[in-house]
Amino acid sequence: MKINILTLFPEMFTAVTGSILGRAAEKGILELNFINIRDYTEDKHKKVDDTPFGGGPGMVMMAQPIFDALRSIEPLPEKILYMSPRGRILDQEKIKALSTEEELTILCGHYEGVDQRVLDHWNMEEISIGDYILTGGELAAMVLIDSVARLIPGVLASGDSATEESIYSGLLEYPQYTKPRSYGGYDVPEVLVCGNHKLISLWKLEQSLRLTQKSRPDLFDEFVKNRKELTKDEQKVLDKVIK
Ligand SMILES: C[S@@+](CC[C@H](N)C(=O)[O-])C[C@H]1O[C@@H](n2cnc3c(N)ncnc32)[C@H](O)[C@@H]1O
Repeated sequence: MKINILTLFPEMFTAVTGSILGRAAEKGILELNFINIRDYTEDKHKKVDDTPFGGGPGMVMMAQPIFDALRSIEPLPEKILYMSPRGRILDQEKIKALSTEEELTILCGHYEGVDQRVLDHWNMEEISIGDYILTGGELAAMVLIDSVARLIPGVLASGDSATEESIYSGLLEYPQYTKPRSYGGYDVPEVLVCGNHKLISLWKLEQSLRLTQKSRPDLFDEFVKNRKELTKDEQKVLDKVIK
C-alpha cells in the first residue's frame, strides 16, 4: 500500500517510520510518501496560511499550496482523507475497509484548519480520531496509518495476530502474562500453565467476556446479540458471565 501524506511537519512522523512499519517499508509492503505542503507555496516568504474571511481567531491553511501539492502526485489521488475533528470517528470497521485500498492520501490540517474549497474540490472524506481537538492532523494521521498498516498482510510477523486483538474480535482482550511465573508475590493464573488447551481457551474467553462486560457494556451487548455459533462449553461460559 502507498500512503501519501500532505503535511507542514513531515519530521513529526518518526513514530511510523521505525519499528514494525519501518520493516514493512524495507520489505516494500508499505510506502509512505511525505509531501511538505510548504514546498508548493507560491508565496515568496513561503507563507501557507492567512487570516479567515469574515473574521474569527487564528489562521487558515490556504488552498493554493494544497492544490499544487496534490497535483504533484501521479496519478492524481482518488481517495483523499482529511484528518478533522468534524469527521466520522475512526473505528476498527473503517480501518479494516481502508486497509484494502492500494493507495491512500491523507491531508493533515494545522492552525484553524484548511480552506473549505480544498475539501469541496477534492471531495475529501473527513476522519476524526475522537471528540477532542489536537493542534494538528499529524498525530491523528499517525494513528490512522499505524492501525491500517498492521492489517496489511505481511506487516506483522507471522506469530502476531491482528485478528485476536481487543475490539477486532468483538471483545476486549483477556489478561496476558509472560515469564517469570512468579513475580513480586504475584503468580500467573494456574490454568495458563496447566497445559490443557481447551481449559486455557475457555479461561481466555471468560476473562474477555468479563472485562468487556465491565469496561465496554456496549460491545458486550453487541457480542451477545450478534455472536457467532459458540460451542456448548463456550455457551456455558457466556451463561455464567451473564448471570
Ligand atoms: C486546532 S485543529 C482545527 C480545529 C477546527 N478549527 C475545528 O474547530 O474544527 C487543527 C487541525 O488538527 C487536526 N485535528 C484536530 N483534532 C482532530 C481530531 N480529533 N481528529 C483528527 N484531526 C484532528 C485537523 O487536521 C485540524 O485541521
